[in-house]
Amino acid sequence: MIKTEKISISRTARSRIKDIDFHNLEFGKYISDHMLTSEYKNGEWSVPVILPYGDIVFSPTILALHYGQMVFEGMKAFKMEDGKISLFRKDKHYARFSKSLERMCMSQVPYEIFSDGLIELVKVDANWVPDTPGAALYIRPFSFASEERFGVKVSDEYRFIIFSGPVGPYYSKALKVRVEDKYIRAAPGGTGFAKCGGNYGAAFYPLQLAKKAGFDQVLWTDGSPDLYIEESGTMNVMFVIDGAIVTPPLSDSILDGVTRDSILTLAKDSGIKVEERRISAKELADSIQKGKLTEAFGTGTAAVVAPIQLINIKGKDYTLPPIAENVVMTKIKNELEAIRTGTAPDKYGWNTII
Ligand code: COI
Repeated sequence: MIKTEKISISRTARSRIKDIDFHNLEFGKYISDHMLTSEYKNGEWSVPVILPYGDIVFSPTILALHYGQMVFEGMKAFKMEDGKISLFRKDKHYARFSKSLERMCMSQVPYEIFSDGLIELVKVDANWVPDTPGAALYIRPFSFASEERFGVKVSDEYRFIIFSGPVGPYYSKALKVRVEDKYIRAAPGGTGFAKCGGNYGAAFYPLQLAKKAGFDQVLWTDGSPDLYIEESGTMNVMFVIDGAIVTPPLSDSILDGVTRDSILTLAKDSGIKVEERRISAKELADSIQKGKLTEAFGTGTAAVVAPIQLINIKGKDYTLPPIAENVVMTKIKNELEAIRTGTAPDKYGWNTII
């Protein structure tokens, strides 16, 4: 057990917080004053240190840069109604991080380093947690292979780093998405369920093509002729069909989204029917045309709940009912928000109060 008092903290003499406009928080742009780092060498993780956020030095040959051993998490801390700070579903994020590390053959980060490290770092940068509506402190724990070696091998050395930054909503408007029918994000047996950097890098090219064609995101499929939907870029995806939430079941090609799990839990408890089942592009098109599909939205830590206004399938645009009519999405989103900000009881034990 790493005792939190052992995490040494050196505070910045020059906070950058006064440069931040907390009412205009572009996602990913602002970084809080401090970061936490720990190194894995000779079979051991070092006691983490918290220090001013800044550049780090490493050799051009570190294995992560060449062979891609890198995984990350995305988490959020919220300012609660009573002024306290809560960290959302820390242990679920840790479990996913561990699964990703295992798939990428990387050294496990001990729970104490992850958990105590997060709590201490958020305490140190507590004044960076926004209290503006819809905003949060986004926290990025990540690890990468740091052994200096260009032979193709599993690294024997790693670094674990956590930094954070205040963020507003990831998407500022309802999305136009295209069912991707040429490229795939993941395949059975691959790394699709892991939060490894390569999954995101490999998605850029198809996403760029979709953006050039006027769409905001792609809907990934399994690549089969029936185009079964998997997830969207940076989000899991859900459809409301005949009043039930329909979402693709988890598999080794779909990310086990923490927001996905939270939304499904809340929906089931609210008496909304949830169907975790495969859904083809054809079923999507038919359901929209027959007026059975009333809502579509993405879910993710960054995206929270992002409504979809249009789905392009095989070159044809299908427009969804107005977002204002998204009653299921809005109800569950508000319930999630209420738990995160402490205006509803945390009956699932999702919040770690800092
Ligand atoms: C998240 O939702 O936390 C993500 O990781 C998506 C993206 C910002 C990489």
